[in-house]
Amino acid sequence: MACETRKILVTGALGQIGSELTIALRKKYGNENVVISDMRSKVTDELLAGHFEVADVCNQSVLRKVVREHDIDTVYHLAAILSATGERDPHLCWRVNMEGLRNTLEVARDEELYRVFCPSSIAAFGPDTPRDDTPQETVLRPSTMYGVTKVCGELLGDYYFSKFGVDIRGVRYPGIISYKTPPGGGTTDYAVAIYYEAIKSRRYECFVSKDTVLPMMYMPDAIKATLDLMEAPLESLKHHSDFNLAAMSFSAGELAAEIKKHVPEFEVVYKPDFRQKIADSWPRSIDDSAARNEWGWKPEYDLATMTKDMLEKLKERHEAGEL
Ligand code: NAD
Ligand code: SER
Repeated sequence: MACETRKILVTGALGQIGSELTIALRKKYGNENVVISDMRSKVTDELLAGHFEVADVCNQSVLRKVVREHDIDTVYHLAAILSATGERDPHLCWRVNMEGLRNTLEVARDEELYRVFCPSSIAAFGPDTPRDDTPQETVLRPSTMYGVTKVCGELLGDYYFSKFGVDIRGVRYPGIISYKTPPGGGTTDYAVAIYYEAIKSRRYECFVSKDTVLPMMYMPDAIKATLDLMEAPLESLKHHSDFNLAAMSFSAGELAAEIKKHVPEFEVVYKPDFRQKIADSWPRSIDDSAARNEWGWKPEYDLATMTKDMLEKLKERHEAGEL
């Protein structure tokens, strides 16, 4: 089915999600219609196929200039500081996540953009939230600065929708697992690093305990959810910036056991650090029925299918000398 042409800007495009979302957006809308930006400037060959701008999202005039110069009508705003880095530097986390989002929303309002995507996270929940099958509408009292910015970001997004008509959409991504670009300083990073080490060294020191259960999702599902939500008709949405989103939940021990089915000699030791407390404040599983009902969300991957694919892809990269 042909899709309407959009002129897209991706912020934070060199990160774990942005680097893969960019490829998917270019495939769908054409290389010439997807401009990418990041504060960092080291772009991989794969991402160089289209236009790249170095842009700090904390600088509103730079963001506005990029939007005007490229006639942008849709922004995927991914630039952010994640949970573990955010606990090390809460001020930076507030500045990038809140100023960056407010700048994006201001530009979207002034330039009358068509649509904006900004992800929230399971980090919007906190220790007082029910941890199993966490409902869409529930207690939002996070204990990390990252979580605080995610709750404020959801509220700010919904405010810009109701007050100024900015069509902003967002999901509360679970931990995202992928093999192309390493994650950028989150609490769920162990669920990615464990695969890399299974291939590279057959041993992993895990920074959360064996029985820690968190909601996770394989990157192809995260990309599908993002594209589907952004294509959904506005009139079908009751929520905007804060959709719960789920695919699978497992403990660190269950993850290691699944990997051992493919790499029998793999060994994991558990040495929880400061990220254990963050993990313990987040849900174990998520009720995503609002996303399913309002825009037809359905994940494809489970722990077994994701693990098989992750190990195959990382083995190929290892053999090619890329890891
Ligand atoms: P990442 O850390 O891998 O990438 C973020 C990118 O933002 C980096 O390339 C970084 O250089 C860039 N950046 C940082 N500060 C910037 C600034 N001031 N101006 C411009 N760019 C800047 O993060 P990600 O995992 O790709 O996350 C993308 C979004 O998804 C974030 O909003 C994050 O909170 C959310 N999210 C991610 C996960 C996950 O597991 N990856 C889970 C839940 C939510
Ligand atoms: N993966 C992210 C983190 O751990 C969740 O938002 O910070």
